[in-house]
Amino acid sequence: ASCDLAIRGGTIVTAADRFRADIGVRDGRIVEISERVEGAAEEVDATGLLVLPGGIDAHVHLAQPTSDGTVMADDFETGTRSAAAGGNTTVLPFAMQIKGTSLRDCVTAYHRKAEGKCYTDVSFHLIVSDPTPQVLGQELPALVRDGYTSFKVFMTYDDLVLSDAELLEVFDVARREKALVMVHAEGHDAIKYMTRKLEEDGRTAPYYHAEAHAEIAEREATHRAISHAQLTDVPIVIVHVSGRDPMEQIQWARKRGLKVHAETCPQYIALTKDDLKGLNMDFEGAKYVCSPPPRDTDSQAAIWEGLRDGTFELFSSDHCPFYFQGAEGTGKDNPRARTSFKWVPNGIPGVETRLPILFSEGVSKGRISVERFVALTATNPARLYGLYPRKGAIAIGADADITLWDPDRRDTIRQEKLNHGSDYTPYEGMEITGWPVRTILRGRTVARDGQVEAEATGQYQSRGVSEAVA
Ligand code: URP
Ligand code: ZN
Ligand code: ZN
Ligand code: ZN
Repeated sequence: ASCDLAIRGGTIVTAADRFRADIGVRDGRIVEISERVEGAAEEVDATGLLVLPGGIDAHVHLAQPTSDGTVMADDFETGTRSAAAGGNTTVLPFAMQIKGTSLRDCVTAYHRKAEGKCYTDVSFHLIVSDPTPQVLGQELPALVRDGYTSFKVFMTYDDLVLSDAELLEVFDVARREKALVMVHAEGHDAIKYMTRKLEEDGRTAPYYHAEAHAEIAEREATHRAISHAQLTDVPIVIVHVSGRDPMEQIQWARKRGLKVHAETCPQYIALTKDDLKGLNMDFEGAKYVCSPPPRDTDSQAAIWEGLRDGTFELFSSDHCPFYFQGAEGTGKDNPRARTSFKWVPNGIPGVETRLPILFSEGVSKGRISVERFVALTATNPARLYGLYPRKGAIAIGADADITLWDPDRRDTIRQEKLNHGSDYTPYEGMEITGWPVRTILRGRTVARDGQVEAEATGQYQSRGVSEAVA
């Protein structure tokens, strides 16, 4: 047999088209796409299934330390297990710089945490929280050349926020080094002002997180980031865009030919700020606290327009898992968080449910094509983050990262079926049509029917220059 693996009889879907063909895999790569692949050591029958490039989740947080005693519910073992079970073959978590420390040392620490633990391939975006002359002048340029070709900056959060002057300096390095900047666009001072006002009025329940993190503050910061990017002539990605207002800023920029790309996430199509009310403005709402927060049904409609018309090129989970009831103040339900929404850890789990939610709400309900689904969840992330065409493609020579998808399978999202570390899912009870049934990483099956069944063979992926930069 000339192939290690043949995947037969399925419908291959790429970002551009769909067709019936067999796939032949050798040494972890796709070596043949034809009507009939002859003789392979292992055969997989994909009749009735879609054959998709493995999902690439380009925005996940794993094993990040916190400064408030809360603990992230996923390390690289559980986080990538959850990712693989949900149809993903590559994830891009963040290597976060801790203020006052070397960015390079932080990156090394994440490599140690990931080594030998991963069920998907992994690469790291950097988070720049302390742009010292040493970081801007030496560490960042060296890291970009070493294959960390994207980094995130924050316009809010006390531990991470950069001033406009610092943002401009970081953008300037990105242009020189041909890196892609991801921007968390929410206006810090506006959020602090809103938070103070709400607390003064006794409005401290988790729900008020959604009012404090107003869409106006997101719109303003989005525009400010776009202006800084224009001044410094650098491409940016506005990540986790929540609704119509920031989306309009991105469309405005695009019409002027500015190099602005955009990402949205499941929470902005599947949740609204009413979810933060919990049962009756109670603490259950903390399960949905993330930033930016989910908005309203009009925002959801806007996000769908953006997913259809190309405003959004990326659909990522922003998986940022916390326990609801962590032991001794390690979860969202900690004593301080009970006193004010401002202490509730920001972030929700979603790496395992990202693909099913977009497929079910998008493809099964006729809002987007399956080709668009592939573009948003695999091909575009590979292109924008320097992994294409090794990843994100079903093509000769590409890594055999393949997800077999049953478009007709119906099931309900339930916490007890998920592999993530969190003790809840914000999507509990959601009815889904279309599930991944097998995840294949470089030719080896790693997950089947929501269960991981292989060793942790995921590898680190050094990345090239983004197509947004080139
Ligand atoms: O609330 C969120 N999204 N937490 C994760 C960190 C971030 O800003 O992406
Ligand atoms: Zn963010
Ligand atoms: Zn783009
Ligand atoms: Zn995030």
